[in-house]
Amino acid sequence: MERGQMNHNRKNDHKNEKGTAPKPFVAAKEGQPPVTKNTDIIADKNAYGNACRAAVTTDKGGDGGVCKVICLCNQKGGVAKTTSAVNLGIGLAREGKKVLLIDVDPQGSLTASLGFVEPDDIKVTLATIMTAIINEEDIESTAGILHHEEGVDLLPANIELSALEITMGSVMSREVILKEYIEMVKDQYQYILLDCSPSLGMLTINAMAAADSIIIPVQSAYLPVNGLQQLIKTVFMVKRRLNRKLSIEGILLTIVDFRINFAKDIYASVQDSYGFQIKIFDTKIPLSVRAAEASAEGVSIFRHCPRNKVAAAYENHTKEVLGSENQKRTEN
Ligand SMILES: Nc1ncnc2c1ncn2[C@@H]1O[C@H](COP(=O)(O)OP(=O)(O)OP(=O)(O)O)[C@@H](O)[C@H]1O
Ligand SMILES: [Mg+2]
Repeated sequence: MERGQMNHNRKNDHKNEKGTAPKPFVAAKEGQPPVTKNTDIIADKNAYGNACRAAVTTDKGGDGGVCKVICLCNQKGGVAKTTSAVNLGIGLAREGKKVLLIDVDPQGSLTASLGFVEPDDIKVTLATIMTAIINEEDIESTAGILHHEEGVDLLPANIELSALEITMGSVMSREVILKEYIEMVKDQYQYILLDCSPSLGMLTINAMAAADSIIIPVQSAYLPVNGLQQLIKTVFMVKRRLNRKLSIEGILLTIVDFRINFAKDIYASVQDSYGFQIKIFDTKIPLSVRAAEASAEGVSIFRHCPRNKVAAAYENHTKEVLGSENQKRTEN
């Protein structure tokens, strides 16, 4: 795909894919509780580590006709959150799933990685949508959604999201604005992936409040132990106060340089520190310059270099994510 080739889809077209008029959506009025799905809180242990696994959602996520919302989150920068969102999202689309990617980062990296190189020129973005919800304005459910040629939809973001985050401090129910949007569009998708910024600010809290689960990409090039504790603490807080069904899907080790022993040390360290409470995905994403090249081209690694080891790894990771869903279904 040519960079910047992605178009606003059906911006002026009032039909959705089924040929019916999209439901115009109206933001919930003040005082209305956010809609919640049927969840089964098995236990809520005191230690925040236990709480990560305590919630088992009864949502059928993906296959069962119910949408699963996964947030890719780590306040550490450059750990491949965006790269993983792109390749897991397109990986799921390649498995036949209907996927929406939401860029929850004012840097607009997800938007740029999918080929829209000038995010700041996009008129309708997540900031526009969230502002409309805050102001209780009507918006069409397809507003701002872009199509990518590899079969995923994208709600883009740009620097305006940063200004919005600053002004959200005085907004009522500010933590659940994104959740309100997702409730409006989730019947059209099987998976919604949220690409977070490297911070634990209000936008990330919004993403956690809207998500069923979290994937934590961790770069295998530094000792992540302390940073992860803060992240897990925040997850627990969101779970307790805003979103009882939230769980941690797993830690995904990324940018792994298998040539050096240090990578093994990192894996052992993460396993020792977190393996007892959080799943660590079997798949590790290897380091390869091809991954960076794919982002620069606005395509997935599957399109850019299908035989590359990173493509194989993201394909396996996609299967692990789908597999954990199938496993949950069997358990329920
Ligand atoms: N497997 C990989 N091998 C080599 N480079 C990679 C790999 N995955 C990602 N990168 C590169 O690492 C850098 C950081 O990746 P990415 O932007 O996905 O991280 P991020 O966690 O989203 O960053 P931020 O915190 O700024 O949002 C990018 O230049 C990306 O192209
Ligand atoms: Mg990013």
